[in-house]
Amino acid sequence: MATEGCTETPAWIAAAIQELGGGVSGERFMELALYHPVHGYYQKKGVSLGREGDFVTAPILTSLFGELLCLQMIEIWETMGAPARFVLIEMGPGTGHLAEDIIRTSQKFPRFLEALDYRLVETSPVLREMQQHRLQKTTAPLGCHWYASLQEAAGDGVEGVLFGNEFLDALPVRWLEMTSEGLREVGVVVSRSGTLALTTMPLGSGLDPNYFKRLGLELPVGMRTEVCLRGREWMRLAGRVLRRGVVLMVDYGYTDRDYYAPERCQGTLVGHFRHQRVDDPLAHPGEMDLTAHVDFSAMARAGCAAGLTVCGYTTQGWFFMGLGLLERLQGVARSQRDGGLGRAIRQSALRLILPEEMGERFKVLALCAGLKNVELSGYRLKNQRDEL
Ligand SMILES: C[S@@+](CC[C@H](N)C(=O)[O-])C[C@H]1O[C@@H](n2cnc3c(N)ncnc32)[C@H](O)[C@@H]1O
Repeated sequence: MATEGCTETPAWIAAAIQELGGGVSGERFMELALYHPVHGYYQKKGVSLGREGDFVTAPILTSLFGELLCLQMIEIWETMGAPARFVLIEMGPGTGHLAEDIIRTSQKFPRFLEALDYRLVETSPVLREMQQHRLQKTTAPLGCHWYASLQEAAGDGVEGVLFGNEFLDALPVRWLEMTSEGLREVGVVVSRSGTLALTTMPLGSGLDPNYFKRLGLELPVGMRTEVCLRGREWMRLAGRVLRRGVVLMVDYGYTDRDYYAPERCQGTLVGHFRHQRVDDPLAHPGEMDLTAHVDFSAMARAGCAAGLTVCGYTTQGWFFMGLGLLERLQGVARSQRDGGLGRAIRQSALRLILPEEMGERFKVLALCAGLKNVELSGYRLKNQRDEL
């Protein structure tokens, strides 16, 4: 039975759903809303990431994010014995800020720079163009390459790091509801009046009615939530293509016990529209970012099933403090003659680690392949991998 509606449904999405039989899974709806080749949020010329846009991400906020992440990459390269070729594959580079900061920082480390082979995986032609424009100057001495999928970027296997910031949360998720008859999928239909509405439907392929039970989790009747099968698929692929090195993912999310706790009974699916949080996932299709938190336990399990080993899991706050963010800020404070500018830099950077900002909500998960006893500085202050 359809339960909710939204007004002003754009004709293109109603037509796309009608073409698919009049009803689609939440995952398919999200795919259309975000990645429809003409109308999808990430595919359009006007896609608006950044301070003036719908949402801002850490690399856009401060270049210290990329600078410190670069130091983590260099440490991994050294742990691997400083190979002559070291591949960095960045998933979903957005505006290209992170790539720019990593490449700029690596220019201070000539031996690392010589080994560096930077590859960007981006599905949106518009964002790819934006990244190419931003990176034109920075990458001149290096040259980097763009790909449409991890498979393509990885070629016959990778020695290096596969990483992404806010990549996993952008993947379409399956929408679920626990009913008195058991787990059901939530989908989207076009109602007779032409508006979009949510509806429950039998579980589609790839979903197991006992998934939560097998994890020892009990979902109360009425709870809505999500499962990201695409993220698990990506992790499995990462495990297959990474011969030696690390998978490092930064995103907002929880362990599965926290993700599926009864108090989170409306799930984590939300829209971001002009810096406003929108709870109705059917609002502004194609104009609004739609995202769900990451279940890091599921990501870790998928990686381990593909032969990876979890080497670290912690909050973004602990991770960047482990990499020396506070010491860097003291350095900024000492070196800035203009107090106002120094304060602005410090304030932006502090948002990365303050618990009420990004420090607690964002986590950093690292899995490795072909490396023993890896100790990454990002986890030296706190490693919560046993909680996954
Ligand atoms: C939320 S944005 C994050 C942007 C950037 N990493 C940042 O931190 O500012 C998500 C990015 O992932 C890209 N993306 C989505 N699905 C993808 C896929 N399957 N493969 C590669 N990139 C993808 C989007 O086009 C976009 O660049």
